[in-house]
Amino acid sequence: MSIHLNAEPGQIAETVLLPGDPLRARHIAETFFENPVQHNSVRGMLGFTGTYKGVRVSVQGTGMGIPSAMIYSEELITQYGCKNLIRVGTCGSYQPHVHVRDIIIGQAASTDSNINRIRFGEKTFAPVADFGLLLAAYQGAVSRGHRVHVGNIMSSDTFYHDDFDQYKIWADFGVLAVEMEAAGLYTVAAKHGARALTILTVSDHLITREETTSEERQLTFNGMIEVALDAALG
Ligand code: HPA
Repeated sequence: MSIHLNAEPGQIAETVLLPGDPLRARHIAETFFENPVQHNSVRGMLGFTGTYKGVRVSVQGTGMGIPSAMIYSEELITQYGCKNLIRVGTCGSYQPHVHVRDIIIGQAASTDSNINRIRFGEKTFAPVADFGLLLAAYQGAVSRGHRVHVGNIMSSDTFYHDDFDQYKIWADFGVLAVEMEAAGLYTVAAKHGARALTILTVSDHLITREETTSEERQLTFNGMIEVALDAALG
């Protein structure tokens, strides 16, 4: 047991998918896992463990934002021995060539959060994905016929901005899209020697203002989960 998870020791697998939404965790477990068992109920942040193609795997909701994602990833690694942590979520595209429903793999995560200024002061830490997980996810996405982009993503501390155009500074430097957790996950994984990756589907577009419907989000989300599971367990 840890502060925010009431799973028994050994109840969570070494490989964990991390959606922000706890109901997405339930959806993933019910759709993709064989024999899923709920391992967490604290704060309604649902987590499940089962098998996928016979291999033990877990899924754990993290909530929204870097602080919440860092709490769950820290406890999963340090209290439950998790070794492969794969965030699965949605993002908003910053680039004309990155379309809604595409998949993005976060090679690195820039951020407007203070988490690493607190640690490193004026020096800059670059939170990056595990290369082995990244390569496997990229190859899996391509072989399944997805439109997939690999690159820098932006983990923002805010969803609603006073100045909508603030995204352009990131877009001008080639950042692909915005989400709200990856920089925290990559930093915690780096600190504890775990492997981490972020795979996202593009749910909305900051340039065209296009948005996906909830049915489209579910369909593209399921395609991404297969990519994530095959990358993690293949
Ligand atoms: N901002 C932050 N996070 C997101 C967005 C966004 O526009 N879309 C999906 N996740």
